[in-house]
Amino acid sequence: MIQVILRKKLSYCVLAFFLFAIICVWKERKKVGYYESLKLETEGFQVVSNQEKLLVGSGPQSSVGTQDLHTGNPALSSTKSSVKTKPPPSFQVWNKESSSRNLPSRLQSIRKNYLNMNKYKVSYKGPGPGVKLTPEALRCYLRDRVNVSMVEATDFPFNTSEWEGYLPGENFRTKAGPWGRCAVVSSAGSLKSSQLGQEIDDHDAVLRFNAAPTANFQQDVGTKTTIRLVNSQLVTTAGRFLKDSFYNEGIMIMWDPAIYHSDIPKWYKHPDYNFSSNYKSYRRLHPEQPFYILRPQMPWELWDILQEISPEKIQPNPPSSGMLGIMIMMTLCDQVDVYEFLPSKRKTDVCYYFQKFFDSACTMGAYHPLLFEKNMVKHLNVGTDEDIYLHGKATLLGLKNLHC
Ligand SMILES: *[C@@H]1O[C@H](CO)[C@@H](O)[C@H](O)[C@H]1NC(C)=O
Ligand SMILES: *[C@@H]1O[C@H](CO)[C@@H](O)[C@H](O)[C@H]1NC(C)=O
Ligand SMILES: *[C@@H]1O[C@H](CO)[C@@H](O)[C@H](O)[C@H]1NC(C)=O
Repeated sequence: MIQVILRKKLSYCVLAFFLFAIICVWKERKKVGYYESLKLETEGFQVVSNQEKLLVGSGPQSSVGTQDLHTGNPALSSTKSSVKTKPPPSFQVWNKESSSRNLPSRLQSIRKNYLNMNKYKVSYKGPGPGVKLTPEALRCYLRDRVNVSMVEATDFPFNTSEWEGYLPGENFRTKAGPWGRCAVVSSAGSLKSSQLGQEIDDHDAVLRFNAAPTANFQQDVGTKTTIRLVNSQLVTTAGRFLKDSFYNEGIMIMWDPAIYHSDIPKWYKHPDYNFSSNYKSYRRLHPEQPFYILRPQMPWELWDILQEISPEKIQPNPPSSGMLGIMIMMTLCDQVDVYEFLPSKRKTDVCYYFQKFFDSACTMGAYHPLLFEKNMVKHLNVGTDEDIYLHGKATLLGLKNLHC
């Protein structure tokens, strides 16, 4: 009798133990699953609602090379081995040596298609690929070879009667900067619940992109907008461009992709989007707000450097708005804090912090050479991996006070 009771008790104990063990294993798997799903999905700067570009966005980043991109991941191995080890001393962040091999096969073939298509007739003749530069040398390169300036009223055909009075009278450099600490705020979904708003607003100037709002998201992205960089597609086709009031704050800059190294007259004959009419309408509605047009040569000047330092051929399409915005701020500021361009630990299912649905274009960039842009930003980062991991923050030095 006693033996039977004992045996029963023992079997209950064994059962309870197994249950406990199963729960433990399940929890660990969930943790590992979280890290594995922390893919480099933060295509935070992908052009909003650009059909052509969205078309080639990826689905869920099923096989983005977690292994290669997150090499030596102590967080992952410690969760596997023992629950009670101390927090890892280093952080799982973007690997600046990432290459197209790290892309899922679908994105690899899209990259190849773009290489073959060569829509912008790129004929790169410079050094590389794979030229190794120190961060210092790269900064000097950027300063000396990328001319961040705007189309001016004296540039043909903007000097004709059709354009009289439409471009801002004052030079961009007298309106913008110089500033000390600047923030570049991506539109990444992982900004959600970041609580970075106050930190972002504490900067001297803040740059935002396209249709990214601040209302209802102040806690996470702040309220200040000093510069808004918009693409020509938004200006040309977005129904709300002339209506939404958040565009009316700060300095606006529009950019439009040109054929590789076209000058202004050639580009004007073949813009990617015919922005003229909507640009003029906006200017008539808001004549006091500075609204510049980026010189079409600038994105390709930056692209040339990306190509030179990248280990392989990059997409022959212009850099992302994100990369252009970072470059603009580097010329105007002593220090640039870039938020969620290099992905943080914050996992998100939404592509943009202001969109409630998952957008399949939330990728490592199929159209833009985003992977290589991120490598460059990681190479230039003077902040810590901890800042990237916890806050999605990369810190870059401005180009004003360089000694080259
Ligand atoms: C940059 O472009 C502007 C406008 O075309 C020009 O006036 C200026 O000389 C250029 N600067 C450099 C360093 O090339
Ligand atoms: C506009 O600029 C072009 C090229 O610099 C020049 O030839 C032309 O005379 C200018 N037109 C006007 C109306 O000033
Ligand atoms: C762009 O549109 C304007 C009028 O909206 C037109 O006059 C101009 O020819 C167009 N430009 C091109 C390159 O199609």
